Amino acid sequence: GAKARGANLVPDGWTSRLGVILAVAGSAVGLGNFLRFPGQAAANGGGAFLIPYFISLLVLGIPLCWAEWAMGRYGGSRGFNSAPGVFACIWRHRFAKYLGVPALLIPLVIYMYYVVIEAWCLGYALNYLSGDLMLGKGADQYGQFFNNFVGADSDGTLFTAGNRSLLWMVLGVFALNFVLIYRGVAKGIESFCKIAIPLMAVCALCVLLRVLTLPAHESGRTLNEALGFMWNPDFSALWKPDTWLAASGQIFFSLSVGFGIIVNYASYLKRKDDVVLSGLTAASMNEFFEVCLGGLITIPAAFLFLGATVGSQGTFGLGFNALPNVFAEMPAGRLFGFLWFFMLFLAAITSSLSMLQPVIAFFEEGFGLKRPVSAALLGLISALGCGFVLYFSKGMVALDTFDFWVGTALIVVLALIQSLLYGWALGIERGAQIAHEGAKLRIPHVVQLMLKYVVPVYLVAIFIASLRQDL
Ligand code: PFF
Repeated sequence: GAKARGANLVPDGWTSRLGVILAVAGSAVGLGNFLRFPGQAAANGGGAFLIPYFISLLVLGIPLCWAEWAMGRYGGSRGFNSAPGVFACIWRHRFAKYLGVPALLIPLVIYMYYVVIEAWCLGYALNYLSGDLMLGKGADQYGQFFNNFVGADSDGTLFTAGNRSLLWMVLGVFALNFVLIYRGVAKGIESFCKIAIPLMAVCALCVLLRVLTLPAHESGRTLNEALGFMWNPDFSALWKPDTWLAASGQIFFSLSVGFGIIVNYASYLKRKDDVVLSGLTAASMNEFFEVCLGGLITIPAAFLFLGATVGSQGTFGLGFNALPNVFAEMPAGRLFGFLWFFMLFLAAITSSLSMLQPVIAFFEEGFGLKRPVSAALLGLISALGCGFVLYFSKGMVALDTFDFWVGTALIVVLALIQSLLYGWALGIERGAQIAHEGAKLRIPHVVQLMLKYVVPVYLVAIFIASLRQDL
């Protein structure tokens, strides 16, 4: 009956199978693939990171990804698009809808700082275009440019000369996000991702080809050594809990799993749309961008020029500091610099759109607001948060604090909630039945068992370990 359905005022949804796959892949492929993954891998000894990384992908990432796709489409077929509504369909308890709250808070808070980094990328792309970023060789000037550009060395006020241009970037990027969100799932997100993802792949492949054909550095380091740093697995890392923690965190962040994003996106599917193969395809695309493109560009290029000090560069240091040095030394570096940062910007915006949509859906569904009112309200809330991040950009305190509480603590909690909802409230038999509807491929039964027993235990263990480490 009409009452039992969510207040879906404007029916909206994906227009093609490729469209939804590209939209989910667009959410997954982002700064996490090109900056966070190389940063985490470099900080955890390169090859040492890869084994826990792939184990986390198979044990946590892919199973939870399928669970989110299945639950989302299930809730969507009952007229609910936001996590509170979807979760209440799965667990018929009056408390269930509150479990969806983290699925709104996490994307919203991540948006507040992600959009700032997105603006850095656009700003860097434009500065390559204008030639202002061709500062010549030497590590220092790029660090200075960066600190000035992001306002890290300002006295903490917004309007210093250095980051005034950043302010315009942030405003522009903000507006673009909201224009696309306002146009809706099909006309905004899907049509944008259909252009942006192929374009991103082309830009990334150009940069990759350039990096893989770089000659040996004047220090004598060769590309082979650089690739070896990243790609020689180191089994001793299996004994370090920190590496496991970092690896599973990276898997969640990168696949956009555990954020309630996939629940929302999958809710716009039709009942017979396949989720098993689509989910696997989107996840594989993410891994291709992360491991093949991110992992073969950022670290090898930085290692070639900086040697083993890449490990101490930090997440932003690699992308915004080390790579500009590489571009400065190569022919046509200005073009490749532009391609790299423009690609980062595209990767970021297809991700930030996916942080806004769940909240818009919630405002529409939970409060019966119309799209313009929902968008305005969300714009106001996220602008306040973003202003807060910018204001405290000195030393990036706000950015780091948000990233820790949301990125470490809340994500694990929400992932745990989702695995319990799927494995215990819905039950893996129903879950399998729901997931397999309209699917040609079957999810191996062991994955269902993992979702019920292994994933929750693994997540609790991670949670305890991370609290013990950080508090
Ligand atoms: N998966 C995105 C990335 O790798 O950059 C980041 C992301 C997207 C995080 C969506 C959170 C989110 F809700």
